[in-house]
Amino acid sequence: MDDLKVAVIGAGVIGRTHIDTLTHARGLSLSAIVDPFPAARDLAERHQVAHFAETEALVAAKLCDAVVIASPNDTHVAIAKRVLDAGIPILLEKPVASSLADGAALATVAERTGVPVLVGHHRRHNPIIKAAKRAIDDGAIGPLVMATVTCAMLKPMDYFDVAWRRDPDQGGPLLINAIHEIDLLRHFFGEIATVQGTMSAAARELPVEDTTAAILTFERDGLATIALSDAGVGPWAWELTSGENPGRFPKHDHITHLYSGRSGGLSLPDLSLWTYGPGGNWTHPLTMERLEVGEGDTYIAQMEHFGAVVRGEADPLVTCEDGIRNMHVVAAIKRSAETGRAVPLSDLAAEADVA
Ligand SMILES: NC(=O)c1ccc[n+]([C@@H]2O[C@H](COP(=O)([O-])OP(=O)(O)OC[C@H]3O[C@@H](n4cnc5c(N)ncnc54)[C@H](O)[C@@H]3O)[C@@H](O)[C@H]2O)c1
Repeated sequence: MDDLKVAVIGAGVIGRTHIDTLTHARGLSLSAIVDPFPAARDLAERHQVAHFAETEALVAAKLCDAVVIASPNDTHVAIAKRVLDAGIPILLEKPVASSLADGAALATVAERTGVPVLVGHHRRHNPIIKAAKRAIDDGAIGPLVMATVTCAMLKPMDYFDVAWRRDPDQGGPLLINAIHEIDLLRHFFGEIATVQGTMSAAARELPVEDTTAAILTFERDGLATIALSDAGVGPWAWELTSGENPGRFPKHDHITHLYSGRSGGLSLPDLSLWTYGPGGNWTHPLTMERLEVGEGDTYIAQMEHFGAVVRGEADPLVTCEDGIRNMHVVAAIKRSAETGRAVPLSDLAAEADVA
């Protein structure tokens, strides 16, 4: 079987992760890099692949079977449209678009062309998340009562030298980080019904929020809270505890995600499952067992899954619709923060339909 030829569009922080990943993933290899930034040409030379400054030239060169889109959010939809119209499947970074209207336009193109779209919510490919998903689906904790997600990770000030990361329509930890938490909550517990949120920019005083807290209800069972800051110090963030990205972040031994169901509790990333014996309650000791976890690099697993999607052997684990729904939840949290009211997700879906 020949390797799929994959081009990476956008060779910044995550684009370089995808480029490195392609040197390890089975069944795919890097064929081109597209990025107008001069350093991208050197990077392409080092990898001995073609370099283009823009997507049109890549499409014209017919040098790829698949494309990873890792450029800034506000470029996603225009690039995705061009590539999908050429019949080339995409792995599209999150958030899939920079507005709900753009998201709806993307969905239309994806549907019209029928060309596969996998969205880069990579955590779903993490072995820890796969083990948690299996346990939750098997009823290990019963119906959800409460989920608590914590995320404190101090980003350096120069992280915000990149303009789009200071732009409220594109940057901020809600769109950059919390969207992964939202995706995981939906993955485990189903669709979100309402959100109530608040945001603060007091720590950095940038145009984007640095801290947010949100209460979510689900269409099925349970409540969840997310407390997230990129200006507060602490090890309790998935990035800093899961060991998912050893090249970028140290690994601290702490739990960050706590799920309480009617018959058990599960924490991550340590995969501790807490249960009572028959008839147990808070006056009885809980028993803890560690769930088994597989091995493997999350980004390689994501890329190899992308290969299977391109070959028609698998459906995307994270669909275009997932990417759009996750954006809707972020938009609802922002609207709730502005209005002080709970926002039903059905409001956002209705508006996107009309747009
Ligand atoms: N899945 C994840 O965990 C994860 C992590 C980081 C970033 N992201 C997402 O990936 C995207 C990029 O983020 P980043 O932090 O790597 O950004 P970045 O600013 O580090 O890199 C973006 C790159 O895209 C290039 N670029 C700009 N316009 C372009 C265009 N029209 N065509 C091709 N290249 C273009 C820039 O020159 C730059 O090199 C964003 O959507 C972000 O939300 C996802």
